[in-house]
Amino acid sequence: MIIKKLTLKNFRNYDFAELEFSDSRNLFFGENAQGKTNLLEAVFYLSCLKTFRGSRDSDVIKTGCSEASIKGIFDCYGRKIEVFCEITRTGRKLFVNGIREMRPSDHIGLIKTVSFSPDDLQLIKEGPAERRRFMNISVSQLRPGYIKALHEHNKIIENKRKILKMEEERASYLDFYDVLNEKLAKVSAYLTLERGRFLKNIEETANRVEAQISGGREELKIVYNHDSAIEDVFDEENKARIYEHLKKRKEAELASGMCLVGSHRDDFTVYINGKSARDFASQGQIRSAVLAIKVAEHEITEKDSGEKPIFLLDDVLSELDPTRRSFLLNDIGRGQTIITGCDPSMFSELSHGRIFTISGGEIANKTEN
Ligand SMILES: Nc1ncnc2c1ncn2[C@@H]1O[C@H](COP(=O)(O)OP(=O)(O)OP(=O)(O)O)[C@@H](O)[C@H]1O
Ligand SMILES: [Mg+2]
Repeated sequence: MIIKKLTLKNFRNYDFAELEFSDSRNLFFGENAQGKTNLLEAVFYLSCLKTFRGSRDSDVIKTGCSEASIKGIFDCYGRKIEVFCEITRTGRKLFVNGIREMRPSDHIGLIKTVSFSPDDLQLIKEGPAERRRFMNISVSQLRPGYIKALHEHNKIIENKRKILKMEEERASYLDFYDVLNEKLAKVSAYLTLERGRFLKNIEETANRVEAQISGGREELKIVYNHDSAIEDVFDEENKARIYEHLKKRKEAELASGMCLVGSHRDDFTVYINGKSARDFASQGQIRSAVLAIKVAEHEITEKDSGEKPIFLLDDVLSELDPTRRSFLLNDIGRGQTIITGCDPSMFSELSHGRIFTISGGEIANKTEN
């Protein structure tokens, strides 16, 4: 997957910007607050139809404007794909090769990206919501049915919560509550299977990468914390197991007013040399583990789809020591990489690519190696 050209209009701090990328490495440097992260956000948006900052869509519209647009021209298995997205304060219109796409689930997975920024350290440091977000964004690019299942799951949980909040009318909704639980068991079993498969693949590759960057000193393990009624994520009986668990916990759900069973409670734990990274790892170890996970995501996306995803690296080089930096620049990411940073000397290890400067929402093509 290669992005050939990007055009931005009224997107974040850009009035208008148009640029052509190199098929290999693209380095963008500039001072703080000039538009580097915004540029990566635009590419990510064309892939995942959401901003990686976790903000609202309308936040990307330049202050004082009524709409923003992003256009990307991609090379996908040798086929040209034009993705055009118009974002207004009330919604979004998406066109792929000029044809309007109505459902995000039909688009997500077409343009594959993997992103890595200093915020991704939260993947280990923060609570489970960050880790679920990671699984959701990654798996939805790999599995066409995943995003639909996730929406269905979230809708069921929302409806269950509405019923749990009811007062006198609640009793008359309890049959419907059981119907929702049946549907929840089915969709949760699917999400568990896909998340479990993904984490298993990530663990295998990330552990190899971690050994490489730590000189064999560190072993990385990832344990998926799913519904306690499930023993093996690949077991075909999991739907029935989750349904039994839901039935068992129904009284407790009604008493507490909370949904106690479902994929919305999933999490995973990263262990380095047998100890939970969140509780024991140093800053440098956390950085390495997240780097290993992101490199693993890049590799398994390629293995799964036969195509290298676009690697978006936001401001990560300065956070890494020279060995890890060189590893990231030279040993992996042989596909297209878009890298940002403040300090041009960070890019000195690079052999080929295109260098751009960004200043106040203006992009200039500086040199080509
Ligand atoms: N909707 C918007 N309208 C106008 N400007 C915006 C909008 N959203 C963000 N900005 C501005 O865009 C500027 C550039 O942001 P960006 O995060 O891309 O900077 P950066 O170059 O990555 O900086 P750093 O090196 O600090 O990470 C910021 O000053 C921010 O306030
Ligand atoms: Mg930035």
